[in-house]
Amino acid sequence: MSMKFCCIYSVGFISILLLITGISLVLAEVFQNLLYSRIEKEIVLRNGTEAFDAWENPPPPVYMQFYFFNLTNPLEVLDGDRPAVVEIGPYTYREYRPMEDITFLENGTKVSAVNTKTYIFEANMSIGLESDLMRTVNIPALTVMEKFKDHSIIANLIMAYMKSNNIGLFSTHTVGELLWGYEDGLLKALKLFQPDLDDVFGLFYKTNATNDGEYVFLTGQQDYRDFAKVEQWKGQSSLPWWSTDECNMINGTNGASFHPVITKNETLYMFSSDLCRSLFATFEEEVSVRGLPGYRFVPPSRVFASPTVNPDNAGFCVPPGKCLSSGLLNVSVCKQGAPIIMSSPHFYQADEKYINGVFGMYPNKERHQTTIDVNPLTGVILQAAKRLQVNVFVEKISTFSQTGNVGTVVFPVLFLNESVVIDEESVKKVQVVVTLGNVVVNVPFMLIGVGILLGAIFMMLMCRQQVPKSTPAERQPLLGSS
Ligand SMILES: *[C@@H]1O[C@H](CO)[C@@H](O)[C@H](O)[C@H]1NC(C)=O
Ligand SMILES: *[C@@H]1O[C@H](CO)[C@@H](O)[C@H](O)[C@H]1NC(C)=O
Ligand SMILES: *[C@@H]1O[C@H](CO)[C@@H](O)[C@H](O)[C@H]1NC(C)=O
Ligand SMILES: *[C@@H]1O[C@H](CO)[C@@H](O)[C@H](O)[C@H]1NC(C)=O
Ligand SMILES: *[C@@H]1O[C@H](CO)[C@@H](O)[C@H](O)[C@H]1NC(C)=O
Ligand SMILES: *[C@@H]1O[C@H](CO)[C@@H](O)[C@H](O)[C@H]1NC(C)=O
Ligand SMILES: *[C@@H]1O[C@H](CO)[C@@H](O)[C@H](O)[C@H]1NC(C)=O
Repeated sequence: MSMKFCCIYSVGFISILLLITGISLVLAEVFQNLLYSRIEKEIVLRNGTEAFDAWENPPPPVYMQFYFFNLTNPLEVLDGDRPAVVEIGPYTYREYRPMEDITFLENGTKVSAVNTKTYIFEANMSIGLESDLMRTVNIPALTVMEKFKDHSIIANLIMAYMKSNNIGLFSTHTVGELLWGYEDGLLKALKLFQPDLDDVFGLFYKTNATNDGEYVFLTGQQDYRDFAKVEQWKGQSSLPWWSTDECNMINGTNGASFHPVITKNETLYMFSSDLCRSLFATFEEEVSVRGLPGYRFVPPSRVFASPTVNPDNAGFCVPPGKCLSSGLLNVSVCKQGAPIIMSSPHFYQADEKYINGVFGMYPNKERHQTTIDVNPLTGVILQAAKRLQVNVFVEKISTFSQTGNVGTVVFPVLFLNESVVIDEESVKKVQVVVTLGNVVVNVPFMLIGVGILLGAIFMMLMCRQQVPKSTPAERQPLLGSS
């Protein structure tokens, strides 16, 4: 009898013990912190770690897709009509971007490398071929006209040359030429007077199989939050996003820095050499990518907002004081004076007047916003899509009859979508960590659960003690007869 009571009270005691342990573990987040510190140890750029391999040669395929805007009414536009364009794409390139010339610095706290990008055309992921023709603004001609508009003698010579060679405000070139470069007749003629002039024009000229300069990254050895963070680019401290140096645009793509255990309150900074600066993105929603939980971060609309909306962006008014409205960024200085303006595709989140200025703009959140989906536990990028539009600032130049009666317009040339989705192999690796994480983090709750169960059993047994002793006695004959 005392043996039985001893058992029952032990059950009660263990139950309370489990409850206390479980609850204090939950409150102290012991298992969670153990898990985090384990993950943080793995997230460092050191020869041999998985994080290093993934950083050196990212396993999932990166695709760069271009969508062109083909102009349908050039003559009417010269008469002052609104341009009408048709979006044609995608023209898809597989992008290879390994880190090269890797050197560890300062006892492994930093690492320097160059990021060489190579683009290979993917015909079966494209709507057509690189030889497809597109009609758009003749950017070299417009740049030359803008440059010499105030020098009447030179302007007249150039105008005569343009007339005799049938060069106008609009021209038709192949996709391959517009992207990777073609020899331009007008530039070639000007080169006779200015021998250092490059007579090849292309929006991504010289970006294939080249790198955009040396980066220095933090390895995360001192603080996991600094994992793969760009510390220097081309010998300069990496620019904060509000930097006034607007010159790093269009040239290349981003090194993003992410760290494990990301919370919803976080602001992610992505260094983007095409946007001259780090971009930032804030939490938008929870998503699921290939079955993995993710947090979606998007650049808030104020990233490109005009200074009247966001004074922090005052530095982007180029030249100072002369600002474009919301959603546009003037990168003329970085494109040898070509009047190039960047925006989101179809002027998504930009001032209405730009959307209405061109027939054929259909801004759409799903299709046109930049997104980064990150697994919060590991900091692994599950999916990312960087979407930008290249536009030209077109206006009537009275010195040049070639511009006719064209209205002032921010003319869309193309937009790009540079995207990546985590590969199956990496999904499995992250899945293991996530599952393990769920188990480990739930250990205290399991203890509490078992505690409650034992508590219930304990109470049941205690109640049974109160029941009259007759019950077992009545059963005696039954047991005996069987
Ligand atoms: C990493 O280690 C391998 C083998 O030990 C070596 O071949 C390679 O050069 C090292 N890489 C760097 C960047 O130090
Ligand atoms: C590298 O480590 C050595 C020895 O631990 C130390 O003396 C030296 O100052 C460190 N160098 C840097 C740049 O941190
Ligand atoms: C880029 O360069 C690689 C190697 O030099 C070449 O194979 C590829 O065709 C080039 N891509 C483009 C778009 O010119
Ligand atoms: C773009 O427009 C031009 C001029 O109308 C036309 O020749 C060309 O075929 C169009 N391109 C495509 C891919 O439809
Ligand atoms: C971007 O590329 C242009 C030419 O394509 C070059 O003149 C400029 O220096 C580059 N900018 C940076 C910051 O690399
Ligand atoms: C863009 O910047 C260039 C160079 O600073 C300037 O000359 C041009 O007027 C600007 N364009 C617009 C539309 O603000
Ligand atoms: C890139 O974005 C465009 C426009 O939203 C979309 O049509 C395309 O499917 C995207 N590409 C990838 C690989 O996600």
